[in-house]
Amino acid sequence: MPEISSNPVYDLALSYQKTAALTAAIKLDIFTLLGKGASDAPALAEATGASPRGIRILCDYLCVLKLLTKEDGTYGLTATAQWLLDRASSGAQGETVDFLAAPEMISMLLDDPVSYVRNGGSVGLANVSVDNQIWVRFARAMVPFATVTAKRVAARLALQKIHPRSILDVAAGHGLYGIEMAKAFPDAKITAIDWAPVLEVAIDNARAAGIDGQFTAIAGNAFEVSWDGKFDLILLPNILHHFSADDCVALLKKSREALTAGGKVMVIDFVPDTDRVSPPEAAAFAYWMLATTPAGDAYRLEDYREMARRAGFTEVSGHPLPPTPQTLVSFE
Ligand SMILES: C[S@@+](CC[C@H](N)C(=O)[O-])C[C@H]1O[C@@H](n2cnc3c(N)ncnc32)[C@H](O)[C@@H]1O
Repeated sequence: MPEISSNPVYDLALSYQKTAALTAAIKLDIFTLLGKGASDAPALAEATGASPRGIRILCDYLCVLKLLTKEDGTYGLTATAQWLLDRASSGAQGETVDFLAAPEMISMLLDDPVSYVRNGGSVGLANVSVDNQIWVRFARAMVPFATVTAKRVAARLALQKIHPRSILDVAAGHGLYGIEMAKAFPDAKITAIDWAPVLEVAIDNARAAGIDGQFTAIAGNAFEVSWDGKFDLILLPNILHHFSADDCVALLKKSREALTAGGKVMVIDFVPDTDRVSPPEAAAFAYWMLATTPAGDAYRLEDYREMARRAGFTEVSGHPLPPTPQTLVSFE
């Protein structure tokens, strides 16, 4: 027998238990309750209305996962949980489980993993079907994840002294990319494209951000609808990864034709290294696309360069957006 220090198989095969416990803790507001003060299982049970036994076993497991600490039967938050899971924190990301761990997503990945590997993609259109309701769920749940990246992109443009006045946000979802641009460039007009029910969420968010005067929406399939004009900046955030390279080229061509002179297209996405196995989050994203789309992928910079050449662009550059796992790819 080889000398191995641990057996990852047990943990890997049971990884769905982590999803379950995280979801339970978020839904019961355990992290936020503990953020208000350390507590023991009976007190947490009373505050949540859950069974003391259930809370004790959940909280002990959250200690194993390094989200909680335990001393003399009293639980507290680790620094990670305090920042990312206490709703009082400005970095709170808990609501993202409503999309990331949605029953539809779990079922797509876990019901029959062999099927999409054999098939080289989802059997059927899965997440790229017309008007798929999962994207309304995404738009509502993923705001905390997108906000950090969208702010980084807006800050990068300001740093580069790029000042777009007409901006198209393709597959806008919650609309956060356009909204952050509108805040950074108050004289810019934003046009958002997505399916109609998703755009309702974006319009609400634009109103809440006080930028609805700068915001217009076009409902429909981004490949098919008219984009109504020319733009200094076209954003393609987290959309190309759903499609084959040929479809990405079609969308990039349509984007190039809709640019003003000197305009830019910016893709924000998970971009793995040449080896496709690093960095971990960007590399792992390809598997998600395998399960949930017919032909999507996590494209590398060289893949984008080839798409750009086919779409008629001459310059492509990639800029990581730390601390997010995403990269900004700029096409001119
Ligand atoms: C992963 S979300 C990205 C949302 C947002 N851009 C972001 O980066 O967080 C993908 C979005 O693409 C939209 N979408 C997918 N296919 C589309 C299509 N053919 N036409 C328009 N929107 C589409 C979905 O409705 C969803 O809002």
